[in-house]
Amino acid sequence: MRLSKSDIEVMADIHLATLKNDILPLLGRSFLVKFYTYINRSNCESIYTIRKNNIVVAACIVSYEVETLMKRVVKNLFFSLVFAVLMMLFKKISFFTYVKNIFLSKEGVRISGTGIVYIFVSPGFQNTGVGTRILKEAETLLIKNNQKQIHVKTINHKKNGAINFYLKNGFIIECSFNYLGREYLFLKKTLQTN
Ligand SMILES: CC(C)(COP(=O)(O)OP(=O)(O)OC[C@H]1O[C@@H](n2cnc3c(N)ncnc32)[C@H](O)[C@@H]1OP(=O)(O)O)[C@@H](O)C(=O)NCCC(=O)NCCS
Repeated sequence: MRLSKSDIEVMADIHLATLKNDILPLLGRSFLVKFYTYINRSNCESIYTIRKNNIVVAACIVSYEVETLMKRVVKNLFFSLVFAVLMMLFKKISFFTYVKNIFLSKEGVRISGTGIVYIFVSPGFQNTGVGTRILKEAETLLIKNNQKQIHVKTINHKKNGAINFYLKNGFIIECSFNYLGREYLFLKKTLQTN
């Protein structure tokens, strides 16, 4: 089911509140809204949500083609992206180095297949089982779509609670890698039919 415009706005707000150091929030709320509008109509991505009183409180974004996502976003949102980057440059010159490194970086691992792009739970609902529930719902639908495996990457930092969350939910650490001066973990889970 496609999301409404107001669902997308709420998702952008939760993303901003929960993943402040991620690249998309750096590009601004307006770009985030455009990003989710694109994801919402994409055939290569699915958005799973959990609602309370009909308002989105958690989302899990899965891509069946992680390897092409960035390219598709740049292609489809080119002018919005350029505008967002220019606005950022005016605000923060160090962002230029960040963007430059994205294009020049040779580090990282090649990730392809079906993966979690983002999963987040509204701060007031975290640690109450909502994240586990949305992950399970996404996995059930992926199994129905004959997906055998799912992966995710996350920052390797002791303050990153998501690592514990993924491990508790059956993900296994495959490797760690460095990207843009940050250490990441690459985790995988085999999806099992019961
Ligand atoms: C990571 C996140 C999605 C987990 O969802 P949640 O609803 O808070 O997690 P749950 O209540 O389902 O917790 C499941 C398990 O994971 C563990 N866990 C969840 N968040 C944790 C945290 N911040 N630190 C340590 N462990 C954590 C819990 O110990 C819990 O196990 P338990 O039930 O045995 O105690 C959520 O906390 C979140 O949105 N975080 C910010 C965004 C983020 O980091 N997203 C992941 C990167 S894209």
